[in-house]
Amino acid sequence: MSIRPHQEQVLSSIAQETIQPIRWQNDGLRLLDQRVLPEQVVYLDIDDVYAAAAAITDMVVRGAPAIGITAAYGVVLAARQRFQENSATWREKVDADLQYLKSARPTAINLAWAVGHMARLIETLTDVDPVPQLLAAAQQIHADDIAANRRMGELGAALINPSSAVLTHCNAGALATGGYGTALGVIRAGVSQGRITQVYADETRPWLQGSRLTAWELSQDDIPVSLIVDGAAAWLMKQGKIQWLIVGSDRIAANGDVANKIGTYSAAVAAHHHGVKVMVVAPTSTVDMETASGEAIPIESRPEDELLCIGGKRVAPAAVGAWNPVFDITPAELIAAIVTEKGVVEEPDCEGIARMMNT
Ligand code: MRU
Repeated sequence: MSIRPHQEQVLSSIAQETIQPIRWQNDGLRLLDQRVLPEQVVYLDIDDVYAAAAAITDMVVRGAPAIGITAAYGVVLAARQRFQENSATWREKVDADLQYLKSARPTAINLAWAVGHMARLIETLTDVDPVPQLLAAAQQIHADDIAANRRMGELGAALINPSSAVLTHCNAGALATGGYGTALGVIRAGVSQGRITQVYADETRPWLQGSRLTAWELSQDDIPVSLIVDGAAAWLMKQGKIQWLIVGSDRIAANGDVANKIGTYSAAVAAHHHGVKVMVVAPTSTVDMETASGEAIPIESRPEDELLCIGGKRVAPAAVGAWNPVFDITPAELIAAIVTEKGVVEEPDCEGIARMMNT
């Protein structure tokens, strides 16, 4: 397995393609290391499929669509290596690589979706070099994701009244996608149209996607953002300070239940109590029609140390353990609208989701 650090100018303005967490460059995969943002802007060169899987598990790259796109490029790396090793037997070896890649993180369905898409393409390939076709497919997944985000930005922003204030949780921005973002795509579009005049971001314990990533990303686009601790969300709503809670998703079940970063559920319960609307923004690659409801969505647990330590230093007493589920399920009845690139499902349920997926 090989990962090589690489210093590079990353920042591009919204006029270009916003921040790019994933690049295919010089015949290889390059990932922005999200573990060290915002202090350091470092790209890592990912040389093989096992390094791609490790980058997903270790959160070099994170966010459901970004994980899927990385996996698609990971399949290209696997096929290139296995075909070079033996052009007659490469398919069997790649199959095992793909199974491994798929298990890098359990909750985001975009990972299995992208690997499945690439695996079906592999089945159709003849015995010529598979790399050009697989690379074209991975680049298409990447480009489609950015286009979907732009579309969702417009659809979601149209639901928001002028001069509104919104809260977002975790990071569902350019960093979590191919570019532009899902929830942050709506916020970008809403700000540019004057519909959103104030953005609050939960800091998002324990990994701080809100304070390290969302706040950094929005500040790159000169969008003012106020950070709050996760526990302040209900109190913010009680003050009447926001009209919408806008989040992304790792998996949407067939009935409209939504898996997203831990803390989304409590924010949605608080929103329901205070009459704040909840908008979930996600591409259809996040919708899992095979999963009937949120109860069947696997919830990732991560190491206790993510909670017990801050900045590598233990802050909890030595004898104390922790419970660290990193996603939760928000039931469909708490959600006002699910926005995908295919359209908006208001008050989501089985029929609404099925209708949207079949359009
Ligand atoms: O653990 P993470 O940082 O991968 O969790 C990410 C989220 O929960 C995002 O909200 C979700 O993946 C949507 S990203 C467009």
